Amino acid sequence: MAPTVAKPLLSDLVAQTRQVPLSHVRPVGDRPDLASVDNESGAGIPLIDLKNLNGPERCKVVEAIGKACESDGFFMVTNHGIPEDVVRGMLLVAREFFHMPESERMKCYSDDPKKAIRLSTSFNVRTEKVSNWRDFLRLHCYPLESFIDQWPSNPPSFRQVVGTYSKEARALALRLLEAISESLGLERSHMVTAMGRHAQHMAVNYYPPCPQPELTYGLPGHKDPNAITLLLQDGVSGLQVQRNGRWVAVNPVPNALVINIGDQLQALSNDRYKSVLHRVIVNSESERISVPTFYCSSPDAVIAPADELVDKTHPLAYRPFTYQEYYDEFWNMGLQSASCLDRFRPG
Ligand code: OGA
Ligand code: NI
Repeated sequence: MAPTVAKPLLSDLVAQTRQVPLSHVRPVGDRPDLASVDNESGAGIPLIDLKNLNGPERCKVVEAIGKACESDGFFMVTNHGIPEDVVRGMLLVAREFFHMPESERMKCYSDDPKKAIRLSTSFNVRTEKVSNWRDFLRLHCYPLESFIDQWPSNPPSFRQVVGTYSKEARALALRLLEAISESLGLERSHMVTAMGRHAQHMAVNYYPPCPQPELTYGLPGHKDPNAITLLLQDGVSGLQVQRNGRWVAVNPVPNALVINIGDQLQALSNDRYKSVLHRVIVNSESERISVPTFYCSSPDAVIAPADELVDKTHPLAYRPFTYQEYYDEFWNMGLQSASCLDRFRPG
C-alpha cells in the first residue's frame, strides 16, 4: 500500500480512512453525547410564514419574529421569497464544487482567515487543537462586484448561480432586519442604518460522512459573530441548537430557511434578542451541505444599541465596539461556548 500523504482537506482525507483520525478526535467529556439529544419535533424552533409580511397582517408576522428572537434566537421561515430554482441551483453547484478533483479545489485553498475568498477545513487550523469534521468555502458577497471576480471559476456556472443566490439572500436579510427593527419598537430602517455600509459573507459547508460521529463535531457549540444568519441546508440533519440546557435537533423542513440572531444583533438590541449556541454533528451515512449567509455590519460600523433600548432597568450591556474589533477577537478565540460578547461588557 502506498504511504498516506497528509491531506489539507477533510474530503480527501476521508477517502483514505475508516476511522476518525486523532487530529479530529475530541477529548472525552467534549464529545456530542448523541444519546441525550432531543430529536422530538415538539421541541422544534418556531416556524414563521413570511407570506403576510408585506400586507395588512404585517404586524402579526413582526410580532412572531420578535417573540422568536427574544425567546429562541432561532426560527425557520417559509414563503421567504427566494425562488425555489435559485435555492436548488445553489445546493447543486455547492455539491458539484466539493465533488471536483482535489487539484481543482486546492486552487482556492488558504488557512488565512483574513482572506475574502478561500477554501479551508475545520474552523481555524492555525489556532485550534482539535479539528472539526468540515471543509468550507468562504466568500465575501457584498458588494458583489468587489468580490465576484475572485470567486472560483469552476464549476463554470458557479459565479452566476451563487451570485444570484447571494443577492436574493441579501434582500431577505434586509426584510428581516426591517421586521426586527419594528419588533423592537424602532423605525423600520433602524438596524439597516446602524450597520453602516454592511457586509455579507457566505460559507458553503461540506460535511463528509464520518465513520465515528460520536467522536467529533462538524462544528462545536458556538454563537455566530455577525448580525443575522440565513441558513440553507440540504435534506440531511445535523444542526442542533441549545434550548433550556439541552441540545435540540433542527431537522430540515422542505423550502424553509433557518434564521438565527448573531452576537451583533444581541448587542444592537441591548441583550433583548439572543444569539444562541448551536452546533453541527455529523453522521456515518451521508454527506451534508449547508450554506449559511452571514449578514453583518461593515468593519468600521460602531455597534451600539438605540437610545430607546437603554434605561434604568436595561443598562447598557456592552461598551460600543467596532465590528472589526469584534471579528478579530472571534477568529482568535476559536469556536467555544464562552461568548465572545462577554469580553465587551462595560467597566
Ligand atoms: C455556521 C453554522 C450550521 C450548519 O457555519 O456557523 O452554524 O448547519 N452552520 O452548517
Ligand atoms: Ni453558526
